[in-house]
This record gives sequence, C-alpha cells and structure tokens, in this order.
Amino acid sequence: MGAVTVPTPAEIERAAACLRRGGLVAFPTETVYGLGAHATNADGMERLYAAKDRPRSHPVIVHLAHAEQVDDWAVDVPLGARALAAACWPGPLTLVLRRSGRVPDAVTGGEDTVGLRVPDQPVAAALLAAFGDGVAAPSANRFGRVSPTTAAHVRADLGDHVDMVLDGGPCRVGVESTIVDCSTDRPRLLRTGAIGRDHVEAIVGRRVVASVAASDADADAPRAPGTLPRHYAPVAALEVTTRDRVAGHAASLRGAGRRVVVLDAPTDPQEYGRVLYARLREADAPDVDVIVAPLPDIADQVGVGAAIVDRLRRAAHP
Ligand code: TXA
Ligand code: MG
Repeated sequence: MGAVTVPTPAEIERAAACLRRGGLVAFPTETVYGLGAHATNADGMERLYAAKDRPRSHPVIVHLAHAEQVDDWAVDVPLGARALAAACWPGPLTLVLRRSGRVPDAVTGGEDTVGLRVPDQPVAAALLAAFGDGVAAPSANRFGRVSPTTAAHVRADLGDHVDMVLDGGPCRVGVESTIVDCSTDRPRLLRTGAIGRDHVEAIVGRRVVASVAASDADADAPRAPGTLPRHYAPVAALEVTTRDRVAGHAASLRGAGRRVVVLDAPTDPQEYGRVLYARLREADAPDVDVIVAPLPDIADQVGVGAAIVDRLRRAAHP
C-alpha cells in the first residue's frame, strides 16, 4: 500500500461548505466509502438518490460526529442501544432507532425509524466535526454494485454525479457496518459486519435475532436493500466454495469452456475483508464468465469472516 495523502483542513472545510449548499461529498469511512448529503437538506437528499439511482423508499444511514448527537435524531433510545453505542462507537455499527421529529422522510424512506452511525475514520471524523450536523450517506456506489473501498472506485461508479471525493486511502474494514435494529423490544441483527452477532449479544446481554432476507412473506421485514437475497453483485457469475475446492472447481468450469478467474483471497479474514470488494471489481472483467471465490475457513466465520460469507453468498445468488 502506498503512502496516502489525506485531505487538508482547507479541503475538509470546502467539503463541509459543499454539504451546506446541498452538494454531494463522497468520503471514506472505516467500512466503505459513503456518498454524503446534508440529511435535513431536501435538495441534497434528492440529488443523493438521483446520483445513486436508488429507490426513494430505501432508508439511508445518518452519520454523526459524536454519540451525544443521537438524541437529536432518535427518541425512546433503549438501554441496549446506549450500551452498543458506548461500546462500539466510533466504529462499524449502525443502530436503527425510533426517529425524532427532525428526521425528514427522505432519510427514512417513510419508515418510523432512523439508522445512525458514528464512523471511526479520521477523514470522516474531521468532515462530520467541521459540518456539525448529520450526514446521510449510503455506500458511494451505483445501486446494486459492490461498495467502493477506494476513492478510485467512487469516481469509477459516480464520476460527475458527485461534487467532491475526499480520498482517505483504502478502507480499513472493507465490508459495510453491522446493523442492529433497536427500535422494538426485540433487538434484531439486520446486517452482519465486523462487529459480530456474539459480540452484539454480549454487549446487550440478551439474544439478538438475526433478520434475514426480506421477502413478501415476512410482512414486518425492514426494507433494507442489503437484506435482499441478491444485492452485492458483480456482472460475471460468482461461485463460492471452500478454499480446498477452489482449484478443482475452477478446473472443471474451464473444462466446460467457461472463462474463469479465481478470486485472489487472503487467508487472514481481516485482510480478506479489506480487499474483498476491490478484488471482486478487478476480477469482474468483460472477458470473464465466472469468478470462483473461497469462503473463509469455518473457524474464521465470526465477525468480519461471517460478514464475508454473507456478502459472498448474496453476490453469488443467481
Ligand atoms: O458501513 C456502512 O454502513 C456504509 C458507510 C458509508 O457508513 N453505509 C452503507 O449504507 O452501507 P447503505 O445505504 O449502502 O446501506 C445501509 C443499509 C441499507 O440496507 C438500509 O436499508 C439500511 O441500512 N437502513 C438504513 N436505515 C434504516 C432503517 N431506518 N431501518 C432499516 N434499515 C435501515
Ligand atoms: Mg450500499
């Protein structure tokens, strides 16, 4: 990894001013790059959805500089959520809470809840502190594409649709935040991330139900695109298997005339998480029919390892 030139204080100020004018600023977080807009600016939010080509009914996460700002955005915050915020923020955790009166519908997709997160990344922290208010930010990719983990990915996906891209180098975690819905009496895990379910359960001191694939059959399932069976999708087909079977599987596909790339996947789960989306983008070339990716070893399928399994399985969903 080369040296990273971080944005200057003057650039951070320009970015904050841009958000105040209703502009769009892409910025790094520890998970993936976000596409930011001032959460309470109607024009900014309209531009955000247009740039991402994202359905207006899909809620976005509001990013905050400090945990103390939670009470500006949420009401009836339960003790379990306070404990999660205290233990994990700043960090790769999003809390879904009952929204306060100042949260516009554009942020929540009409739900009566809001997703909040305090990211753990110096450029994000500087931007949020300079701006002072909530920044609505989905991942800075076009809808349905893998999330960007470098500034170059953002430019490739969004180009002219974004006013500024703050470059903070490659993201440290590389997969999206863990989402815990604390808006009802039963905490639910809506998305796995680097903070694993067992960790969440230890902090809240109770079992946390995992809420999987939203479907019409599940009436109270949240409208979360990350929870659709297929969402993180390369153009080539993706097939996943255990590491010991990857070479044999690739050989048999080649034998059948398919053009195959084996995903260059580190064995260390943290490292795998960091590079997963970049390697998927690289592998997803026009002359490739199938990408074959190894799952993390069973023993590593906790925390970020579990999140990698989740993202790979969704991307592999036919
Ligand atoms: O790591 C992350 O969370 C990154 C960085 C930029 O912070 N953001 C991110 O945003 O992944 P996005 O929009 O790509 O995914 C956010 C997920 C979506 O599945 C959305 O539906 C869900 O969070 N979400 C947001 N607000 C929600 C709410 N009020 N209720 C249920 N789900 C919500
Ligand atoms: Mg996304």
